[in-house]
Amino acid sequence: MDADRVKEAARTIAGTLNGTMTAAMIHLGDRMGFYRALADGSPRSSRQLADELSLDERWVREWLHQQAAAGILQHEGGSFCLEEETALLLSDENHPAFLGGMFGHLPQQIAVVEKLPEAFRTGLGLPYDAFGPEGAVGVERGFAPWLRTLLVPMALPRLPGVVEALAGGVEVADVGCGGGVALLEMAKAFPNSRFHGFEISLHALERAAQNRREAGVENVTFHDARRNPLPDDGRYAFVTTFDCLHDMTDPAGVIETIRAAIRDDGLWFIAEVKAHPTLQENVERNPMAAMMYGVSVLSCMSSSLSEPGGAGLGTLGLDATRLEAMVKRAGFSSLEEVDLRHPVNAFYAVRP
Ligand SMILES: C[S@@+](CC[C@H](N)C(=O)[O-])C[C@H]1O[C@@H](n2cnc3c(N)ncnc32)[C@H](O)[C@@H]1O
Repeated sequence: MDADRVKEAARTIAGTLNGTMTAAMIHLGDRMGFYRALADGSPRSSRQLADELSLDERWVREWLHQQAAAGILQHEGGSFCLEEETALLLSDENHPAFLGGMFGHLPQQIAVVEKLPEAFRTGLGLPYDAFGPEGAVGVERGFAPWLRTLLVPMALPRLPGVVEALAGGVEVADVGCGGGVALLEMAKAFPNSRFHGFEISLHALERAAQNRREAGVENVTFHDARRNPLPDDGRYAFVTTFDCLHDMTDPAGVIETIRAAIRDDGLWFIAEVKAHPTLQENVERNPMAAMMYGVSVLSCMSSSLSEPGGAGLGTLGLDATRLEAMVKRAGFSSLEEVDLRHPVNAFYAVRP
């Protein structure tokens, strides 16, 4: 046995625990308001931060030490500060680069580990509702910054004819709409159009209803897709699916229904995780591949196996080649990649 290889493997394995603990501390930092309090860049002692947030100093101090050790906070003497660049990622919920939301449902995501040994035996996974109401909030917060800031001003203008159609007034469907952030953004910008969200997660539908009330928009309706599926009568000029086809138990069936639901001159806009056809390519080309496969076991693949016979695509299971084959099989004529930069997603325009 090679002793150096043992040391190297030990470093790799122990390093993952470093990441796990730091992720849990980021979750707490987001939840306790530490990053928002530190976002002004002023150095603070643990006493100052604790007093500001009415918290216990000893607990705050240990959290600050962890964040300094992890390289997230800068520290000098007994003072800690958040650099502007890091504050953007962890405290500014309305910036497209905000990452804090990704840690929002970490407790719920990790908690399902308790149920997964059974899934490994039976093959049957868990739907998104297994994460509970907080899980739906967490999923929503992960995707919302991009949808809120860039979907309407940057992405839609890249899709030929879509802004004009939406401004004129058409029917729009978002399938797998989650908490409805994408639809609500579009509905606010295009009051002449009518927007319909289809979703199977009851917790996500509750969030969507709450988000609609808070936004005060009238031209959006959310549907429980199990009871009111997407109508297959060619009424929609614009259909969207954001990060959800790979989560579905029957993506091929849903793609066929979208083909039947969309007008012949309509357009389907897809956001899907950037994936490659092989494990080797995913590992070589995606530095986050280990995290992605983990998320797949905890949520995406699990969801796509949550019914008997589920497709089980998972987080990295829907690369462009496979997606193109699937949409063409369902009768769409073309799939083109849309030139939008995103750390995780690729974007496609699909035409009947
Ligand atoms: C990762 S979330 C994305 C949610 C949303 N599009 C967003 O960007 O926030 C995937 C969603 O797809 C939903 N989903 C899975 N299968 C579905 C189906 N057959 N029809 C509608 N929604 C589905 C899940 O319940 C989950 O809310």
